[in-house]
Amino acid sequence: MASRLAFGLALCAALIGVAGAARRDWTGSAACGSCHPKQLASWQATRHAMTRDRFAERPAGKCLSCHATGEAPAGPAVAVEVGCEACHGAGAAYAADDLMRNKVAAQALGLADLSTPKARTALCMQCHARATKGEPFDPAAPVHPVKP
Ligand code: HEC
Ligand code: HEC
Ligand code: HEC
Ligand code: HEC
Repeated sequence: MASRLAFGLALCAALIGVAGAARRDWTGSAACGSCHPKQLASWQATRHAMTRDRFAERPAGKCLSCHATGEAPAGPAVAVEVGCEACHGAGAAYAADDLMRNKVAAQALGLADLSTPKARTALCMQCHARATKGEPFDPAAPVHPVKP
């Protein structure tokens, strides 16, 4: 009981502490990468990071829904890349170090739970359902592999 209460209080404090940032506020891949440099470097070598090169001009809203990070087509895209937050969720509210160390608090503030195959497949299929090159798509394929 006592530990649950303590945890509850910690979560409340965390939520109040970031009252300035809402669940839908974006921080950008560079900010995530400042604490996760290995994932950043690995991701930068993937097509997800390089999709900007596909477009001579800023892509139309209907393209940005898959080729960008943000709220397109309903709202603005924050970057023409499939950035960290396109998969992990808008992060301004959960990216503080103490919150990141507390998975329950981070998830309450918008960090997506991608730990199950089902959640992971659902994520990929938001963008990969139709577009195929006739090759099988594997949702379990690593998206930013890092050496241990
Ligand atoms: C101030 C440093 C910091 C920033 C900024 C930061 N993180 Fe983290 N992150 C951590 C720490 C610390 C952990 C927990 C320890 C670990 O696993 O490395 C963590 C854990 C994670 C995890 C693993 C969660 C789990 O399942 O246990 C993910 C995913 C993650 N961060 C994504 C992000 C994303 C996306 C962003 C940008 C929106 C971000 N982080 C920004 C420090 C940070
Ligand atoms: C927000 C949309 C979005 C999500 C979510 C997403 N992707 Fe992608 N993915 C793309 C786009 C767009 C491209 C093509 C980028 C380009 O080539 O310009 C791509 C490209 C790829 C490629 C390279 C394909 C090739 O032919 O070179 C792989 C592999 C891939 N994604 C795997 C995944 C996996 C695995 C997941 C889920 C864990 C995932 N993606 C989630 C949008 C997304
Ligand atoms: C295409 C989707 C996608 C993108 C883009 C993406 N991630 Fe991930 N990330 C995942 C998935 C899926 C996992 C595995 C989650 C699990 O097993 O719980 C993961 C795991 C992680 C982890 C946990 C440790 C690890 O390496 O498995 C961290 C930290 C992380 N991502 C940070 C980032 C950062 C930082 C960026 C941007 C530079 C980023 N991710 C971009 C899908 C993505
Ligand atoms: C539903 C999500 C989605 C939408 C919407 C979308 N794309 Fe894509 N696109 C993808 C994915 C995923 C890939 C990479 C995987 C693949 O090629 O199978 C891709 C690949 C591409 C490629 C590389 C094709 C190749 O053969 O290498 C181009 C160019 C492209 N898209 C342009 C566009 C344009 C232009 C629009 C808007 C008219 C658009 N896309 C809308 C998901 C989408």
